[in-house]
Amino acid sequence: MRCMRQEVVTCQEKKLKASRASSRLREIQVPHQEVDLIVRNAKQLLTLRGGRKEPRRGSGMTDLGVIENGSVAVQGDHIAAVGTDQEVTRQVFIGARTEVVDASGRVVMPGFVDPHTHPVFAGTREEEFELRLKGASYPEIASAGGGIRSSVRRLRQATAEELFQDALPRLNRMLSHGTTTMEAKSGYGLDLTNELKTLEVIAKLNRDHPLDLVPTFLGAHEVPDEYRQDREEYIRLIEEEMIPRVVADDLAEFCDIFCEQDVFDVFESRRILTAAREAGLKLKLHADELAASGGSQLAAELGAISADHLVYTDADGIAAMAAAGVIPVLLPGTTFFLRGERYAPAREMIAAGLPMALATDLNPGSCMTESMPMILTLACLNMGLLPSEAISAATVNAAWAVDRGRMVGSLEQGQRADLVIWDMDNYKILPYHYGVNLVDTVIKSGRLVYRDGQFHI
Ligand code: NIG
Ligand code: FE
Repeated sequence: MRCMRQEVVTCQEKKLKASRASSRLREIQVPHQEVDLIVRNAKQLLTLRGGRKEPRRGSGMTDLGVIENGSVAVQGDHIAAVGTDQEVTRQVFIGARTEVVDASGRVVMPGFVDPHTHPVFAGTREEEFELRLKGASYPEIASAGGGIRSSVRRLRQATAEELFQDALPRLNRMLSHGTTTMEAKSGYGLDLTNELKTLEVIAKLNRDHPLDLVPTFLGAHEVPDEYRQDREEYIRLIEEEMIPRVVADDLAEFCDIFCEQDVFDVFESRRILTAAREAGLKLKLHADELAASGGSQLAAELGAISADHLVYTDADGIAAMAAAGVIPVLLPGTTFFLRGERYAPAREMIAAGLPMALATDLNPGSCMTESMPMILTLACLNMGLLPSEAISAATVNAAWAVDRGRMVGSLEQGQRADLVIWDMDNYKILPYHYGVNLVDTVIKSGRLVYRDGQFHI
């Protein structure tokens, strides 16, 4: 066990080192070098330029940095040049070794960043789906022992290898729908052994699968069965045993919490997140999902990178997040799947200058989908986003929500070469033609990993 953990940490370090090396590389890049790969002549190349400096806000969210007849040249795992085909072919040399990918007539854009997912779980919960169709609510199912706690009981029975094998097809589905970076939470273990087991599976997925995973510790997802009568003891366990061990083993970059009525209140959330922050973890919160929990204000007070869900967030919560620079991550797939009547106030957030992001919330209970395109459609139809705003939210802003804005989310020189070629001639088709997969090709870290329905991984 010990040895396995060492190995995981080493591999995470390797990925980080590789990305640092790639940012050094771009500084010593020689003009006219023979590039490894070039995507040529996109009808619309959405660069999202400027995204590397800062997320998009307000009317800036409609600016996709579109280049007609655009090309992107790739060296190693990063972008060497971006521009019109003429500009790029002047800047770089296409040699015999260069792989040329023709994108004529198509849209090319950065891979999606999915900044909120729960991808490691055992078994599915379609029975609850049916119970909800018959009239039960999500909180009712949870308080009767279903919901998150039923997934916890099943994850504890599963081996790390089983969890890994179950998660792989989910990651493949994400990749094939255009996602190239994802955040991944623990939170179905809820004891030291099983939270570590989950985070080790996430580390192994990060190592073995082309997708990049940003690991988040979510020990405070729910109070497990054995601590229902002594929640104080469970909070102590998180603060004194889980957080220190997760940090010592370098298994998470973020700490998240389900701050919600009947789960963790604001006082408990403040305690846990303060301990996490002091231990060196960055913060996220599930906030104001089912009721106004005060979570958005707490996110602002603690300097969280993001606050997520935010269905019931009011004007004060929006103002607090704007003042503190918290990124709202909205999850319209969850509201849709739980048949909520109310969606997060995205337009108010955009009007307040918040760089809102979108995510799937992939999980077996409240949102069983890997598809970011579906989320874009729901965001447009139910939260009033324009297609351009939804694309900014799912690329640049989503990258900043996982603290990767300087690495991914835009197609600019030096960014990681994560590109998706879409079978469409203009980007407005992306949320409009819904429920089918229009991804043609996915290039991840400079490698062609998916094309015409086939994985090359
Ligand atoms: O983000 N809100 C809490 N957690 C998940 C649901 C997890 C589950 O039902 O298994 C969410 O919606
Ligand atoms: Fe969630």
